[in-house]
Order: sequence, then C-alpha cells, then structure tokens
Amino acid sequence: MSEPDLSVELCGIPLRNPTVLASGILGLSEDLLIRVGESGAGAVVTKSCGLKPRAGYPNPVIADWGAGLINAVGLSNPGVEATAQEIQTAKHALKRKNIAVIASIFAESVWDFGTVAEKISSAQPDLIEVNISCPNVEHEFGQFFCATPYVAAQVTRRVKQSTKIPIIVKLSPNEANIAEIAKAVVQAGADAISAINTLGPGMVLDIESRAPIISNRIGGISGAAIHPIAVRCVYDIARATPRVPLIGIGGNATARDAIEMIIAGAHAVGVGSAILSRGLDVFDEITRGIAEYMTRHNYARLADFRARVLETAPVSGVRP
Ligand SMILES: Cc1cc2nc3c(=O)[nH]c(=O)nc-3n(C[C@H](O)[C@H](O)[C@H](O)COP(=O)(O)O)c2cc1C
Repeated sequence: MSEPDLSVELCGIPLRNPTVLASGILGLSEDLLIRVGESGAGAVVTKSCGLKPRAGYPNPVIADWGAGLINAVGLSNPGVEATAQEIQTAKHALKRKNIAVIASIFAESVWDFGTVAEKISSAQPDLIEVNISCPNVEHEFGQFFCATPYVAAQVTRRVKQSTKIPIIVKLSPNEANIAEIAKAVVQAGADAISAINTLGPGMVLDIESRAPIISNRIGGISGAAIHPIAVRCVYDIARATPRVPLIGIGGNATARDAIEMIIAGAHAVGVGSAILSRGLDVFDEITRGIAEYMTRHNYARLADFRARVLETAPVSGVRP
C-alpha cells in the first residue's frame, strides 16, 4: 500500500497532518512558531487575546500535580492589536512551512466578541477560534458564555457577523450537555467546533504549608487526567453535529490518544499540556504513530476510521 494520507481540510484550509498546537500553551512569536512548525504540527492556535491587554494572575499560575496540570493564568495577553501584529509577522514564516494559523479570541461581553473578531481579522489568520469556555472568565451577567445554548449561540452569531474568516467555537466539558451547546452554535453559524477546554475548576493543595499550589487557588485541569472525558465529549459532539469539522483536544500525548479522538469523531487533534512533558517532538511522534496505525489497518485516509466507534464492548476491558 502507498503511504497513508494524513492531510485534512478544516473549513477549506488544508492541514498537512491533523495535529494542532492548542491555545495558550506557547505564546506567539515568530521564533516559537517556527520551532513548532519544524517540529511537525499541522496548525497552530495562538494564545487567546481580548480587547485590551491583560496582566493575568501572579505566579505561580501553572503546576504539574502528577496526572495532569492545573492552571489559572488569568488570560494574560497583550491585547488584540498586538496579537494581530504578531500574527502578521509570523504568518509568512508559517506559510512557507505550510502551517495554518488559528487566532484564538475571548471577550467579556457578547458585543466585545464581535469587536475582537473584527480587529483580529485584519491580520488574516486562516481561522478564528472563539474561546467561550475559559473557566476563569465570566460574562456580563456572571455566567460563563458556554453555560447555556442561548448565550453560546449569541456569541457565535455576533462573531459571524463581524468577520468573513471561518470560525471555530471552543466548548467546555463543564456544562451538562455539550451536544446541545454544539448544536446551538452550529445553528448560529459556527463553521467548526473544538473541544475541550480545561475541566474544573479544580484545586490542588500543598499539604505541608496547607496552601493552594497556584496563586488563584483554583484552576482548570488538563492533561492525561481529562483525556477520557475529552473523548466522550468529542463522541457526543460528533453525533450531534456530524457534518461539522471537529478538533478534539484534551490529554492528547501519544498517537494512541489521537487515534481515539479520531475514532470518536475528531478531524484534527489539539495538543497542549503534553508539550510541557514531552517537548515539541510530540507532534512528529503522534503523526508517525497515526501513519503506522493506518498502514497496519489498511486505512488510506483519516476518514476511513473517523467517527467509527463500534457499539460493542471489547473482549477485554483492558487498554493495551
Ligand atoms: C497553561 C494553559 C493555558 C491555556 N490557555 C488557553 C487559552 O488562552 N485559550 C484557550 O482557549 N485555551 C487555553 N488553554 C486550554 C488548552 O488549549 C486545552 O484546551 C486544554 O489544556 C486541554 O488540552 P490538553 O490536555 O492537551 O492541555 C490553556 C491550557 C493551559 C494548560
């Protein structure tokens, strides 16, 4: 059999392989993006930017607790204008390497989401990811934007009216029915969905000092601990909105994790926390592992095994 084809198209944007740098894990600078590109990612998502610069919380903002990470960065970012500038500078280097750039945005009101989308569009990222799922940001009425289908749809509609660039809406595992939220944002115009953002908030304590280990006391949980929850969310969303491109994120560290996501229904796979433990080689390792799996199973394309969860239990419940 010839080499398996790992390419994927997200809303008309071709990716050389399905791995995507998740938002917020590395900042955005030309040097960093070139390093990510050289390491083999198919696309990069910027850290979420808002209308104005934001300092975020004091250190420590992130900690490894053994089975994953806890973080409350507080959405520190230089603001949409500076981020647009950074995207402009980095875009050429990334284009040369055939890597798609996805700009992540957040805001504190439905209206501001549209304003940030309009401003970031001037840098012409390939796609815009709308972060309605940060567990540390409440909207004007004290709820999360992803908490109800109604508000999630309002944000989506406002962003869609403010840009011609295709939009990905990023969902949270913290709401009772992620499939309902997915349907609402798709009806409101989302071109794609990504899931999941961090789970929680959670809390990790240092028992000697009795103090929380991050400054905000509580924070979002990511990494290996959330992977099965992320796979279930992707499965639910893929069944609710089967024709919509989906980026599966949450605890992807190996090819096996990524393959699970694709079988559950993901078109592409986001990698975040694993970069801290495995380094940037993780993209190439995942891509090579997916190719080996496809060769072994005679799959020519990712679509040959995407969204193909069998409804029967395995002979043994043990994950190999
Ligand atoms: C330190 C840190 C910062 C993050 N910042 C953002 C952010 O700015 N915007 C966003 O949409 N998600 C952010 N996330 C969430 C990740 O993009 C991802 O959805 C989540 O961590 C689950 O994936 P993982 O288990 O591979 O890390 C952040 C996660 C971490 C650990």
